[in-house]
Amino acid sequence: MSAQNATLSVPEEVGLLYDRLTALDTEGTGGSLHLGFWDLDNTEVPLVEAADRLTDMMTDRLRLEAGHKVLDVGCGLGQPAGRIARRTGAHVTGIAISRDQITRATELAEAEGLAGQVEFQHGDAMNLPFPDASFDAVIAIESIFHMPDREQVLSEIQRVLKPGGRLTLTDFFARGPIPADKQEHVDRCLRDFIMTLADGDDYLPMLRRAGLRIAEFFDITEQSVRPTFQQMSQANDQLDPVFEEESDKKFSPADMVDVDEFGSVLLTAEKPR
Ligand SMILES: C[S@@+](CC[C@H](N)C(=O)[O-])C[C@H]1O[C@@H](n2cnc3c(N)ncnc32)[C@H](O)[C@@H]1O
Repeated sequence: MSAQNATLSVPEEVGLLYDRLTALDTEGTGGSLHLGFWDLDNTEVPLVEAADRLTDMMTDRLRLEAGHKVLDVGCGLGQPAGRIARRTGAHVTGIAISRDQITRATELAEAEGLAGQVEFQHGDAMNLPFPDASFDAVIAIESIFHMPDREQVLSEIQRVLKPGGRLTLTDFFARGPIPADKQEHVDRCLRDFIMTLADGDDYLPMLRRAGLRIAEFFDITEQSVRPTFQQMSQANDQLDPVFEEESDKKFSPADMVDVDEFGSVLLTAEKPR
């Protein structure tokens, strides 16, 4: 946490980070703010396409029907929400901690004629502003790693899910101890993006305590993390303006390409009936 923001909570600090990112041109990512998913023999597919593929894989795990109500936890610019709504006919509510993301997401949805099918609101996922059992499904694409207490978020998700409702999320986790010579790179990545790394072994007990039953723990690191960092490191450094205050030690995707222990999981769970 930077000195001038010492009084802010982690969610508030994360909100400001994404306000700054929202001010950047996001065309390169097609509006989605997450990693891609590639077949291992075809990692040349552009990140934009591979990112949509990950959204679709997660959406399919929710078994949605037209008219279902979906909550997108940490909805970014609303691109995944719009894609889910168009593909499935579901109604999607997105929540994010960045006010500027919510403003932009609402504008983009209106411009795309999706205003009746998707809606966005500012809020903290640690304390979801929705009644119990109000959603058929919840998706959280690369957002939970910003939240100080994963178990609290999972409990909140369980609370707002209807019995039988499904959750799918992606999260970063340590696949093993980070080697000493890579620790500095991982620390920088976690610090610059205000994230923590989960312990994969913690997920099963965490879900159980939150009242959710695991359906799938899919380690997508090889198909997702490595090719994304490879493509990002070849692209222009779009993040320069965001981290210019710390230009001596800013995150570099190239540093992360060969950190095998920095993993990503695609996790699916359900609320028992
Ligand atoms: C990496 S972005 C992913 C955005 C979106 N899911 C996507 O894939 O395009 C992380 C998102 O999590 C949101 N976020 C982080 N902490 C949050 C919190 N405590 N409550 C709600 N949203 C949060 C951020 O505002 C941002 O939208």
